[in-house]
Amino acid sequence: FLDKMASALLALVLLTAEVTLSKGTNQCVARNLGHDSVVCECNSTYCDSVGSVALPPLGQYSSYLSSMAGSRLEAGRGRVRVNGTGAGLRLTVVPDQKYQKIRGFGGAMTDAAAINILSLSAGTQEQLLRQYFSPEGIGYSVVRVPMASCDFSTRLYTYADTPGDYDLDNFTLAPEDVKMKIPLLQRAQALSPRPLALLASAWSAPAWMKTNGALIGKGSLRGRPGGKEHKTWAQYYIRFLEEYAKYNLTFWALTTGNEPSAGHITNYSFQALGFTPEEQRDWVALDLGPALHASSHPRTHVLILDDNRLLLPHWAKVVLNDIHAGRFIHGVAVHWYMDWLVPAETSLGVIHHLYPEYYLFGTEACAGWSPLDRGVKLGSWDRAEQYAHDIIGDLNHHVVGWTDWNLALDQSGGPNWVKNFVDSPVIVDAQRDVFYKQPHFYSMAHFSKFLWEGSQRVGVSASQTTELEYTGFIRPDGSVVLIVLNRSSSVIQFEVRDLAVGFISSTAPARSLLTLAWNTH
Ligand SMILES: *[C@@H]1O[C@H](CO)[C@@H](O)[C@H](O)[C@H]1NC(C)=O
Ligand SMILES: *[C@@H]1O[C@H](CO)[C@@H](O)[C@H](O)[C@H]1NC(C)=O
Ligand SMILES: *[C@@H]1O[C@H](CO)[C@@H](O)[C@H](O)[C@H]1NC(C)=O
Ligand SMILES: *[C@@H]1O[C@H](CO)[C@@H](O)[C@H](O)[C@H]1NC(C)=O
Ligand SMILES: *[C@@H]1O[C@H](CO)[C@@H](O)[C@H](O)[C@H]1NC(C)=O
Ligand SMILES: *[C@@H]1O[C@H](CO)[C@@H](O)[C@H](O)[C@H]1NC(C)=O
Repeated sequence: FLDKMASALLALVLLTAEVTLSKGTNQCVARNLGHDSVVCECNSTYCDSVGSVALPPLGQYSSYLSSMAGSRLEAGRGRVRVNGTGAGLRLTVVPDQKYQKIRGFGGAMTDAAAINILSLSAGTQEQLLRQYFSPEGIGYSVVRVPMASCDFSTRLYTYADTPGDYDLDNFTLAPEDVKMKIPLLQRAQALSPRPLALLASAWSAPAWMKTNGALIGKGSLRGRPGGKEHKTWAQYYIRFLEEYAKYNLTFWALTTGNEPSAGHITNYSFQALGFTPEEQRDWVALDLGPALHASSHPRTHVLILDDNRLLLPHWAKVVLNDIHAGRFIHGVAVHWYMDWLVPAETSLGVIHHLYPEYYLFGTEACAGWSPLDRGVKLGSWDRAEQYAHDIIGDLNHHVVGWTDWNLALDQSGGPNWVKNFVDSPVIVDAQRDVFYKQPHFYSMAHFSKFLWEGSQRVGVSASQTTELEYTGFIRPDGSVVLIVLNRSSSVIQFEVRDLAVGFISSTAPARSLLTLAWNTH
């Protein structure tokens, strides 16, 4: 009888353990909308989620798989083996080879994102914000906030449109900030288990400060660094930080301006402010750096470039070689557009080796921007692969964080006042009060949910050449995370070797993204 009692109790314990494990997990409500894979549909009462992830005890590993075939963070578990098979591909974790530490992952609270989120019912809004920011969500900790309007706005404005207002007496946040972005950022912050790392970028200075007298087109600040336009433009950043601080939103970092190269293109179609690297260097040294240092936000990080890596290494060399500018700068921000034109090693790699004291940070990326592959594609696995490929390449070249563009767009990829429609990991359908999580939402998740702040990249060595793309990290608690992308269309077995625990045999199915994680003590 006692035996029976004991085994019944054991069964109960095991049952409870099972229930605990699956708590908060929900399956994807998959919809095929005509592309190569599916979207997951969410509404006010239901959204798929893997819940908060706790790793199994030493000797076991967790796996999460997403694939073109339709898996979405599908959870699995297995036993770590004492002996390897010795056959086929082996990925060996090399903890002694230590690289950069992760800052975080996230997206941008553009006017368009805010409009789309607020177009849903209160319940569905909450669900959407939870997906990104809550502990059961995908762990976003970075939010980029455009300062005033950009193309993903419904009108053109800055915070100081009164001509000649050099003292910024008429500086005011816009209704877009006060009524939409700020309340949403506060809600995101309330859901997040840690302080969000907010990142500010300006697209254009007020027209009256500019050579072309307009927010769009080819133009830069009038005068020279050290002059009154450049000084006012630095103060504009300080005012922005002060105004947001009134709403308890403090910025971790600001960039020296979105895509300064765009402001050198004749008839550029939306908001831009041209800087050369020399002008950016001198503006930071003479105006922005000293203004920030003297402000009530002196610890705000300054990230230069905020533009495509094809401008590296030249741009960063010009700016960072100058000690007067360099002392105010913390990092180099890159956008992903046209990454294929410039290998990561000759751009990111070179800058890391020349200036190891500055970090590299991804500040913008989106799918569907190219004229050849435009707009929203609901269920595109190809785009999930574009994201994962770029993130792995960046992480393997010293990048400490990666920020997606609009957190949410509508089904046409907007609103965008110049019809520069693109894709987003979350597409809302306000009419049905639902949102679709695109395949590339899960690409973000495979990294953002597992690579907490402070996770350190370590070496991963492959026993033979392979088409697999991979990156490995040790988290602050000592657990290991390995992310593996298979863009090919055949299945390969492989095994992972971690001297601290043993061997894991795994498979990366065709067209899949896999996160493996295990405890080491
Ligand atoms: C939300 O979606 C779930 C799962 O598809 C469904 O059961 C539920 O009825 C939906 N709720 C609403 C309010 O539409
Ligand atoms: C591991 O390999 C060793 C040496 O080949 C062998 O003696 C041992 O039995 C193996 N252990 C397991 C669990 O297979
Ligand atoms: C600018 O601010 C001043 C003082 O606050 C006010 O009197 C003036 O009307 C404002 N000008 C504009 C164009 O808003
Ligand atoms: C301000 O935000 C922080 C988190 O960033 C929070 O801990 C604090 O309670 C907030 N204060 C107020 C007054 O809302
Ligand atoms: C720029 O726009 C102006 C006015 O619309 C036009 O005349 C000119 O040809 C355009 N220049 C280029 C290079 O497209
Ligand atoms: C990746 O997918 C391809 C195509 O299905 C397959 O041949 C290969 O074995 C997979 N890779 C791994 C490591 O499983």
